[in-house]
Amino acid sequence: MNTAQKLLVDVHTHVYLPRYAQLLRSRTTAPRILTRLSGPDNKPEERLVILDNEPSGGRPVGAQYWDRDEKLAFMDKHGIDISIVSSANPWLDFLPASTARSLANELNDDLESYCSTSPIIAETRRKRLYGFGLLPLVPEITTESLLDTVQQIAALPHLKGIIMGTRGVGKGLDDEALDPVWAAIEKAGLVVFLHPHYGVDSKQWGEKDNGHVLPLALGFPFETTIATTRLILSGVFDRFPALRMLLAHSGGALPQLSSRLASCIDHDPVVASRLKHDARYYLGRLYYDAVAYGSAELRFVSDVIARSDSYSSTAASADSHVAPKLGSAQMMWGTDHPFFPPLSNTEKWKSVVENLDAITGVKEWTQEEKDGVRGGNALSLFNL
Ligand code: URA
Ligand code: ZN
Repeated sequence: MNTAQKLLVDVHTHVYLPRYAQLLRSRTTAPRILTRLSGPDNKPEERLVILDNEPSGGRPVGAQYWDRDEKLAFMDKHGIDISIVSSANPWLDFLPASTARSLANELNDDLESYCSTSPIIAETRRKRLYGFGLLPLVPEITTESLLDTVQQIAALPHLKGIIMGTRGVGKGLDDEALDPVWAAIEKAGLVVFLHPHYGVDSKQWGEKDNGHVLPLALGFPFETTIATTRLILSGVFDRFPALRMLLAHSGGALPQLSSRLASCIDHDPVVASRLKHDARYYLGRLYYDAVAYGSAELRFVSDVIARSDSYSSTAASADSHVAPKLGSAQMMWGTDHPFFPPLSNTEKWKSVVENLDAITGVKEWTQEEKDGVRGGNALSLFNL
């Protein structure tokens, strides 16, 4: 592996661009940024509230959420060479179609200049910042607007993909209305970063105050699990075999549930013959961030990816000598910055160090595989 392949690349790192933060400040219902007086000296504090009835009255926010210098300082502190920055949830989901469209275009241009004016890594000629653009995925948007925005993003040289929530244009991502969008994204070679926002029904969380733990630790990954499963069931990955999709939080619970999913499909007359391949094959078609916080989980995900080709409907016979694919090659490190800041003053963020240590701790991965997950795989996937 050459020096460039040893770069540390963060594929899961967010920003609320100043234009978007301003919009949130102007709102009186979630999602919004409100100011309240806090602490013994009644200092004004901005808080981000992105869900109705959000636990703990939202969370404190500051410059880390929008200021590019803060992003670069965070990267320097943790030795991160390159970040592929995405707008944070809930994106444009709550806006009427006409506003969503114009704001998507403005935010894509904003993110392009955020990245294009970032420092260059001298020996590699790469920039330090690249980005995922946004589509105006809201009900009543026209397909033409969505396709125009895909073209806008494809033409912006520092935007390498599109971050997407799970709602689509109102009916989820398994909606055939999105087929022209998948086709355009596939053709443009952009990577879809699938990221949760809504979690699952908050009635599941009971009445105890557990802060943000249940929605973040469970609700978020379950939302991704359901959305990805619906995509598989809808045949999107059969219709768009070159579509590249990166799943947040290592694909949530899907790797653990994929054999059960395959079995349920095989036993259900409605879907048994719908898909070209066994469900487990499609897990090997996807990319996974390594934001799982533990070595055992990372190893497990890479094993699930590695075995996937044997579930292809055209799989060679069991006694063939075809080497299994390297699961780790489809995994890439991320931080989820600026979320999960340390609760007490520490030099480095625990959430960052933990995800790096998790990679180091996978005993079954070679040093080369670990370097790949730390950055080399992202350089390849995003063609940096
Ligand atoms: N991470 C995110 O990306 N969004 C949140 O709202 C919380 C954590
Ligand atoms: Zn995130």
